[in-house]
Amino acid sequence: MAYPILFLLFLSLPFSSAKLNLDYYKATCPDFENVVKENVFIKQTAVSATAPGLLRLFFNDCITDGCDASILIASSAYNRHPERDANPNLSLSGDAFDIISKIKNDLELVCPGVVSCSDIVAQATRDLVKMVGGPFYKVRLGRKDSKVSDAKRVDVNLPSTKMTMDQIIEKFTAKNFTIREMVALTGAHTIGFTHCKEFSDRIYPKVDLTMHPKLAAGLRTVCQNYTVDTSMVAFNDMSSPNTFDNAYYKNILKGLGLLTSDYLLSVHPRTRPIVEEYAKDQQAFFVDFAKAMEKVSVLGVKTGNKGEVRNRCDQFNNNIPE
Ligand code: HEM
Ligand SMILES: *[C@@H]1O[C@H](CO)[C@@H](O)[C@H](O)[C@H]1NC(C)=O
Ligand SMILES: *[C@@H]1O[C@H](CO)[C@@H](O)[C@H](O)[C@H]1NC(C)=O
Ligand SMILES: *[C@@H]1O[C@H](CO)[C@@H](O)[C@H](O)[C@H]1NC(C)=O
Repeated sequence: MAYPILFLLFLSLPFSSAKLNLDYYKATCPDFENVVKENVFIKQTAVSATAPGLLRLFFNDCITDGCDASILIASSAYNRHPERDANPNLSLSGDAFDIISKIKNDLELVCPGVVSCSDIVAQATRDLVKMVGGPFYKVRLGRKDSKVSDAKRVDVNLPSTKMTMDQIIEKFTAKNFTIREMVALTGAHTIGFTHCKEFSDRIYPKVDLTMHPKLAAGLRTVCQNYTVDTSMVAFNDMSSPNTFDNAYYKNILKGLGLLTSDYLLSVHPRTRPIVEEYAKDQQAFFVDFAKAMEKVSVLGVKTGNKGEVRNRCDQFNNNIPE
């Protein structure tokens, strides 16, 4: 009767039963949900840039070799070029990093060594999206944090505003997203900010005629000093900057998108019909966004011994000098 015993043995090994589930911390960290929720509420109430900041960080982390908190690793003697090093170029929000380390600190007090940084990022992002008016979706848990982080992996995976829509579509389909899912996810641009340098070529020296002239005039004023003051930003969605709604789609159909990629989304024959649909039907957008976010949140997830629960979100547990 060796067979059933072996079978039981396999079941008890940590990496064989490594599947994400909704109740992952139910026994080991029952406070998980509340600690995340309360921190999110306090932080977002104080700093409205938190929700967009973390939503973007989450997407960038997941699309770059998986939702594994590799984006949180700070550069040090042990890792000279982590993903976060691409950060000055990507201008990820400091508030997004702050909320994660705050939650991690609180969780280490109540259940030390149990909750991964990648699960915190996934759960806090969902709570923030919901808090600013977006749809709810379920977040399955049990991700482990990466043991590597490499700045070079960012450009390879991330879509950029300088790409054609066909190239952007390719980035998403390479990760098994449909065009419809891509259009829904990009509705995230209904909140948050964009730095002037990301769209300066559309307003200086001449105004891009695909941009609404009033928006262009406003941005030319807002961004006039952007080469000196690189912190200058504009709202992604002028009409309801802090509310997660379908205004992004209405805006881009009127030439009120900031990025070239936002404009292209509104005119490309494969994306425009979907943009029009979401502009008319917020519920359709919410349903599709929620489903697509569930899909984002399990991209390249590491479980079992493929990863670790970091003690600090910005460092690997075992630092080996490079
Ligand atoms: C279609 C391809 C996409 C491109 C080319 C793109 C590019 C950008 C760029 C250049 C910015 C401005 C960053 C800054 O100046 O600080 C931005 C902001 C943002 N993006 Fe995207 N993005 C894309 C898709 C997405 C997706 C799929 C999500 C999330 C699901 C997302 C979420 C955000 C958010 C929330 C912001 C605001 C960030 C903040 O306020 O800190 N983007 N995006
Ligand atoms: C930022 O972008 C510039 C210009 O594209 C590039 O030369 C530089 O290496 C990038 N820096 C990082 C840290 O990725
Ligand atoms: C790709 O996406 C489809 C639809 O969302 C899903 O059913 C399928 O399992 C995914 N395939 C891979 C390889 O992730
Ligand atoms: C740009 O700089 C000038 C001169 O320092 C200043 O008067 C002006 O208010 C600045 N504009 C903006 C939008 O910050």
